[in-house]
Amino acid sequence: MDSQAALHRQIRGPAATAALVAIIFGFAVAPLFPVDQRVLGYDAWLSLPLGVVGAAWTLSTGLVFRRQGLGSPLYAAMNRGETVLFSTICLAAICQSQNPASAVWVLHFGHVVTCGTSGGERRYNLTVFTVASALATGYFALVRGPAAAGLVAAIAGVAIYAYAVMSGTASKLSEIIAQRDRLQAELTAVTVSQERARIARDLHDGVGAELSSLFWQLQSLAATATTPEARASFDGLTQRITQSTDELRNVVWELRATSLAWPELIAHLRTRCAELAGDVATVTLEASGDEAREIAGDVRMNVARIVQEAVRNAIHHGRARHLAIRLHLGERLVVEVDDDGSGIAPDAARRSVGGLRNIDVRVKALGGTFTVSPREGGGTRLRAEIPLALMPSSSSVTG
Ligand SMILES: Nc1ncnc2c1ncn2[C@@H]1O[C@H](COP(=O)(O)OP(=O)(O)O)[C@@H](O)[C@H]1O
Ligand SMILES: [Mg+2]
Repeated sequence: MDSQAALHRQIRGPAATAALVAIIFGFAVAPLFPVDQRVLGYDAWLSLPLGVVGAAWTLSTGLVFRRQGLGSPLYAAMNRGETVLFSTICLAAICQSQNPASAVWVLHFGHVVTCGTSGGERRYNLTVFTVASALATGYFALVRGPAAAGLVAAIAGVAIYAYAVMSGTASKLSEIIAQRDRLQAELTAVTVSQERARIARDLHDGVGAELSSLFWQLQSLAATATTPEARASFDGLTQRITQSTDELRNVVWELRATSLAWPELIAHLRTRCAELAGDVATVTLEASGDEAREIAGDVRMNVARIVQEAVRNAIHHGRARHLAIRLHLGERLVVEVDDDGSGIAPDAARRSVGGLRNIDVRVKALGGTFTVSPREGGGTRLRAEIPLALMPSSSSVTG
């Protein structure tokens, strides 16, 4: 569809339209000049009105395309009308010339080839060219006899054949272009996912190992501390290293979420949420729906981040004691987190400059909807719905 649109943009662009109008103008006024009538053979009374109609049609079709685009039914109708009109103009001039080898065939070929390059409307165009050619052949059979009619049929047949070959090639080409675009998008997704996995490995094995070695060195140094102040400082440092290790593990896990299968992601989320809740709250996580559904890596990672933020908020802000998380995979991916905490102001998401706002941005970027509101009977319900069918394959909300 994209390559079709690009092609029509080219054909309907100012330069192509101006060239076409100039050709029509040349065709229309040619009989006014002293030219060899054996070559031209048609009159100005025929070419001038047809030329005016042809030029006006082309200009308005171009205008409709610019205003309404390729998908517009009016443009489609005018485009079809143009094929009939130009076929009529060319073949009418050839018929009037009564010359089966008229120079106007060149225009007819030009028109047919131009239609062929777009590859669209194949059956319709073939019908129009065949009917117009049959009418012209019939006319020549009546006025010039079978030999002339045979020649007209042969030339018109070559034009139809050229059209069939060109339009076939053009539609194959646009199929190939669409396939290439699809493959490119898939390749990008795979590359991004591999790169994330590599960064995750490097962080884990590099920074992670370094933090762990720091932790053990600090532990042995702490053993040598003699004063309570020194011991408190060591304890503080050890705690910060533990927090950093925890944070690093979390980042590594999120980076890997893009390449995890859905059941693995659920299993990881269960562990992670239990870690976040500690012994302050209990978390249940239910997953339902079609586990085999295709989900882009971005979506998985964003779901992971949304759930974690919801759990952190419920525990830190709501002081919740119990959280119920539901994830459903259907036409849409639904994430629901209920908590039994203190509840939330209805406009909290709108006013947020932190986690809730981030969730909103993530969900909207994936074409979904997000709400967070007080629950009946106390607590908070966070709900995000992400459409899976309409999901843009190249979207990457990774922030
Ligand atoms: N589950 C919840 N229960 C109670 N209050 C909440 C909950 N989630 C969010 N809030 C409120 O919404 C505000 C905005 O949350 P958020 O955007 O995550 O920012 P932050 O967590 O950085 O404060 C919080 O400060 C809190 O007042
Ligand atoms: Mg928050």
